[in-house]
Amino acid sequence: MLALAVFVGTKGRGSNLFALRDAIEAGRLAASIAVVIGTRAEAPALVRARAAGLSVRIVDPQTIHPEEYGAALLATLKDAGTDTIALAGFLRRVPPLVVQAFPHRIVNIHPSLLPLFGGKGMYGEHVHRAVLEYGVKVSGCTVHFVDEAYDTGPIIAQRSVPVWDTDTPETLAARILPLEHALLAESLQLLAEGRLTLNGRVVRVLTDAAAGGTESRMP
Ligand code: GRF
Repeated sequence: MLALAVFVGTKGRGSNLFALRDAIEAGRLAASIAVVIGTRAEAPALVRARAAGLSVRIVDPQTIHPEEYGAALLATLKDAGTDTIALAGFLRRVPPLVVQAFPHRIVNIHPSLLPLFGGKGMYGEHVHRAVLEYGVKVSGCTVHFVDEAYDTGPIIAQRSVPVWDTDTPETLAARILPLEHALLAESLQLLAEGRLTLNGRVVRVLTDAAAGGTESRMP
């Protein structure tokens, strides 16, 4: 059972956060949401989280010395008893102190097929616009472990969708979002079951954790 901290950004609606909450309530994800952490109290995802009775904490990097930001996050995480972090629309780089304190216990959902269309500034509509401008015919979403850079950590799972000639950033985002919701919860459930292993940067899924048995690549 995971004790989750969900990090949200200033702009997100919180749909991935609530997809996790729904997966927990439906018994598809063995976890609890110990705390939701954001940078601004008025962020829509945090407003929704508070209204839903979730525990919300603000750690605002604008009011904290940059060198203290990681320590402030760590204190909040420790206080909430968190063992795993899910980034759901969080736009900042996770401080190295936090990455090092949670080795392979931080996952991010990104709305493209990484390593394409990732990196600093590539979030939300910016991603889908870049996909359409480039002209790729397939896009999708990626769940990956978080390292100290943007969107570069080992990939846990991906799902793809076709890109249509008639797509706008909005229609493409709407096609991908439900897959994000499912993939984030499924990936965290694999983590909860202890079924994710790393070989270099390649993540493998144990088919039978109890037997410590055979490995297979995720579909
Ligand atoms: C999602 O598209 C997610 O992939 C990205 O930010 C967006 C957040 O959306 N990292 P929401 O706040 O979960 O609705």
